[in-house]
Amino acid sequence: MILVAGAVLVGVASLGASGARGSGGTPASLDVAALDVPQDTVSFADDILPIFRQRCAECHGAEDENGEVRTEVSLNLLNYERVMMGSEFGTVIEAGDPANSFLLDMIVDGTMPETGDPVPEDEIALIRAWIEAGAPNN
Ligand code: HEC
Repeated sequence: MILVAGAVLVGVASLGASGARGSGGTPASLDVAALDVPQDTVSFADDILPIFRQRCAECHGAEDENGEVRTEVSLNLLNYERVMMGSEFGTVIEAGDPANSFLLDMIVDGTMPETGDPVPEDEIALIRAWIEAGAPNN
């Protein structure tokens, strides 16, 4: 897939349409610009990975007390290649296309994380901005 990083600008993708797999309606879209997220500087390693590590890894990529890696639906969110590979059901991130990124749908509608606090809006905005920027491994 060829994507020009940063070519997809804030506001292009409205959340109205649900993802490819139609997880139903999504709540009102977040205004990334209003949240002042610097689009071109979102870093996978510095911004996105820590969110996944804190909120998702327990079920998607981290080792349990027996040293076994738990990866629900084969989705490992602690490794860039694995994130882009998606789950046993398919991709969960469409680089450059937040509206068709299933992972984003699931955190926006609160399906994920399955337990614990919902992902706060500023963190969702970061993930959205990273996807819009082409989901780079930066
Ligand atoms: C307590 C365990 C748990 C946590 C924490 C958790 N998940 Fe999940 N996740 C699951 C389970 C179990 C499934 C499969 C069942 C389902 O789809 O509801 C799943 C499924 C998913 C799927 C669907 C994959 C597919 O292709 O159908 C995505 C995307 C996802 N999780 C993302 C996340 C993200 C992002 C976080 C963190 C914000 C997270 N999950 C946190 C347990 C968890």
